[in-house]
Amino acid sequence: MKVGINGTGLITRALVKLVALNEEFKNIEIAQINGRTMTINRLKDLLLYSSSQGHSNLDVSINYDTNELLVNGNKIKYTANSKPEDIQWLPEIELLIEATGTFRDDTKNSKDPNRHFKSLNNNLKGIVITAPGKGSIVDYMWIASPDLEQEITTVTSAKKPFVIGAASCTTTAAIPIVDTLDEVFGIESCYLTTVHAVTRSQDILDGSKGWCAMDTQLHSTGATKATNKVLKKSIPMSGIAFRTSDKAGSFIQIDAVLNKEIIKENLLDAFKNSKYKSSFAYSTVSNPPSSYVRGNKAMVVLIPDEFVIIDKKRVIIKGLYDNEEGYTNHLLQLINFVISKMK
Ligand SMILES: NC(=O)c1ccc[n+]([C@@H]2O[C@H](COP(=O)([O-])OP(=O)(O)OC[C@H]3O[C@@H](n4cnc5c(N)ncnc54)[C@H](OP(=O)(O)O)[C@@H]3O)[C@@H](O)[C@H]2O)c1
Repeated sequence: MKVGINGTGLITRALVKLVALNEEFKNIEIAQINGRTMTINRLKDLLLYSSSQGHSNLDVSINYDTNELLVNGNKIKYTANSKPEDIQWLPEIELLIEATGTFRDDTKNSKDPNRHFKSLNNNLKGIVITAPGKGSIVDYMWIASPDLEQEITTVTSAKKPFVIGAASCTTTAAIPIVDTLDEVFGIESCYLTTVHAVTRSQDILDGSKGWCAMDTQLHSTGATKATNKVLKKSIPMSGIAFRTSDKAGSFIQIDAVLNKEIIKENLLDAFKNSKYKSSFAYSTVSNPPSSYVRGNKAMVVLIPDEFVIIDKKRVIIKGLYDNEEGYTNHLLQLINFVISKMK
């Protein structure tokens, strides 16, 4: 299916790379990217090399006559327009990936992704946002969402175009841990800590958005609420994000009080047999640094050497996640599923 992407940021570039290099995403044909200030030349360079992920191994060139990128032989039309209703989406594009971070709240016109459906000659049937939706926009997550099959079928077969959210990178790392612990042992309460790489939503130096990005800062995180929302659970949960100046690669720690007394072997078995088992990876070194996880496609890379059990019922689980490519890989699984239901 032909897909368009709004935005030219880190997640867009990860989408282009993972789609081009992975056979499992061959049904996703990125036909157009719309940006804002980015030139097509700069986008080409950023697709070839990323400061956090290194060389992409993509073959990228530009056709200046048509304003198209050629990525591993696939044509991607490039347009630049900051107002959704003014973007000319190619008429063959049916699904849009909204990856600007700007349009994800349907209660405010300035942030409403539904404005894409007002653009001229568009044939868009739906939008997937690469972030948590706000207002009436519901988030879904591949594997995690209960009733995913039934709800995506309902959403995609409705007469009107749909907009869905895809939660966040921290939620993607938290959910397989929290859901596994809750399903196997029951969680009484838990606390999430993420030590998160810098993103472009932070200020480089002290500014209106926060403190200098080179300092480690305390931020709130929406991942605890989103975890319960996606799972349709109400686990007593709170958490915090430490934002660091790392380029990519984030830590997660879940500190949970369980309903049952356990030993470490029970924990390892729970993860080994979890429904998320194919989305876990395991650290092969002790105390891995954040760079260890860059380019890893797992939802979370568990660090079993660092699991702690206190007083038989309190567990502390540590893991790493690639907030760019790990999240994007999981997002693409959801998009693949959505496409399969749109046909
Ligand atoms: N990076 C992560 O680790 C991560 C992980 C999971 C989810 N997400 C979510 O994914 C979304 C994108 O994140 P990102 O890290 O890729 O952000 P980013 O690197 O800051 O990129 C955002 C892109 O959107 C463009 N943009 C913003 N407003 C626009 C508009 N009105 N019209 C057209 N383009 C517009 C920006 O253009 P300019 O270049 O002109 O500013 C930029 O290219 C955010 O919602 C974020 O929360 C990010």
